[in-house]
Amino acid sequence: MANQEIERRRTFAIVAHPDAGKTSLTEKFLLFGGQIQVAGAVKSNKIKKTATSDWMDIEKQRGISVTTSVMEFDYKDYKVNILDTPGHQDFAEDTYRTLTAVDSVIIVVDGAKGVETQTRKLMEVCRMRNTPVIIFVNKMDREAKDPFDLMDELEEELVIQVRPLTWPIESGPRFKGVYNLYEHNLNLFQPSKQVVTEKVEVDIHTEELDNRIGRDLADRLRGELELIEGVYPDFDVDGYLKGEVAPVFFGSALNNFGVEELLNTFVEIAPSPRPVKAEERTVMPDEPKFTGFIFKITANIDPNHRSCIAFCKVCSGKFSRNVPYYHVRHDKTLRFSSPTQFMAQRKTTVDEAWAGDIIGLPDNGTFKIGDTLTEGEHLHFRGLPSFSPEMFKYIENADPMKQKQLAKGIDQLMDEGVAQLFVNQFNGRKIIGTVGQLQFEVIQYRLEHEYNARCRWEPVSLYKACWIESDDPAELDAFKKRKYQYMAKDREGRDVFLADSGYVLQMAQMDFKHIKFHFTSEF
Ligand code: G4P
Repeated sequence: MANQEIERRRTFAIVAHPDAGKTSLTEKFLLFGGQIQVAGAVKSNKIKKTATSDWMDIEKQRGISVTTSVMEFDYKDYKVNILDTPGHQDFAEDTYRTLTAVDSVIIVVDGAKGVETQTRKLMEVCRMRNTPVIIFVNKMDREAKDPFDLMDELEEELVIQVRPLTWPIESGPRFKGVYNLYEHNLNLFQPSKQVVTEKVEVDIHTEELDNRIGRDLADRLRGELELIEGVYPDFDVDGYLKGEVAPVFFGSALNNFGVEELLNTFVEIAPSPRPVKAEERTVMPDEPKFTGFIFKITANIDPNHRSCIAFCKVCSGKFSRNVPYYHVRHDKTLRFSSPTQFMAQRKTTVDEAWAGDIIGLPDNGTFKIGDTLTEGEHLHFRGLPSFSPEMFKYIENADPMKQKQLAKGIDQLMDEGVAQLFVNQFNGRKIIGTVGQLQFEVIQYRLEHEYNARCRWEPVSLYKACWIESDDPAELDAFKKRKYQYMAKDREGRDVFLADSGYVLQMAQMDFKHIKFHFTSEF
């Protein structure tokens, strides 16, 4: 029983550069899953770039993303868990962390724009963890790049072998549909936003194809398919599961076209929960005992209740409500009376959850990102990587009477992973490092509204913060002496070098050959 429950789970994230169509695709999946009846029910959680970063606006939009953080539904015999990721680039760190809790990923690419910056970065994270990836080339109802060129671009830019499983016939106003290389049938395009469209099947070797799309296009399609079969090796599911080959689908999320093929193939080939590495050992999903880790903490947007939800990925066994579990970092036992699971826009209390599931645990500062829960075993799931931040500011207390509140607020916000804190060893000042400007606003707003503390930002001109280590203690010492004004500690007490320019960093790397400069915290 247990194994079957775990086997049927598909826990994944849909990721994309903003505007490629992630929200639209998610919505269509929910339509197929019966979670919503009409399109348009799911609001995009993306924060409009044009908005002059009005934080109240962001709060409101974030409120939506809180309830839709995880969407689950049954489809055929499968239990599908979609983990939502923030649409705004400034919350990229959140997205990277969510990727540590999924077993596979669907990347949406805009057919006209091809691979964009954020797509590239997201793929890097997937590669670091060998996460299986499926690519969906979206917006084929608009003028798109040549599909062969796109294949080359995906392969080169994302550094992964690709294998088309559907193939488009033209794009834009001339878009006729896609041929399914997996099932060997043709799906003709019928634009429709509201309903799940019927598939029109045509045998491409008959004249019916010529009748449907015209002689020229039919001949061209036959030629292209021959070429594809010649150029690309047969689709290798094992290669996909190892993260070496990415199957590619074409379609239009907005028109719900090509989405069903994608979903059907996805549930069939995507992995069920995979083994998870802890510091001590590898945890198998079908182990009878429950283990899990916290990968995300979301604050409640209601200012009257400063409670958070900690999102726990169940890594093995079965989680049950009201059963005591062991919080490894605090060395104490906790019991959860109202764990939640998520359905489209609703939250419900759950009695049990299996490996692969995500549960929301009400949290009042008990959890920190990366915390492990077990049935008593001393396990530590490997910390989630923090990336070297790109923007820095000194944080100063703006209300001397609220020093304690400020310290507590900063501490908890850092536990949630909102940003990273470094303490300059030279002047003792606190530096907050983020990946985007918005985080500074988020921190200031939340300190004020949730902790009754006020902060002030002061500029600090830094290029990068990187973690340093060396097998040569004398050289490390010499480096720290030479750069004493630029040395800081992170919250774990590790040495961090604050480089004020790319040139300085390069020189440091050249002058100190035995020092390793790390750009993610997991090394
Ligand atoms: P995101 O979550 O990745 O940011 O993308 P989202 O689904 O919100 O889509 C971004 C824009 O692209 C939306 O238009 C959406 O309607 C459009 N779009 C998505 N899929 C397709 C597609 O297959 N074909 C075409 N032609 N457009 C598509 P918008 O104008 O920003 O928003 P809206 O006013 O349509 O909601």
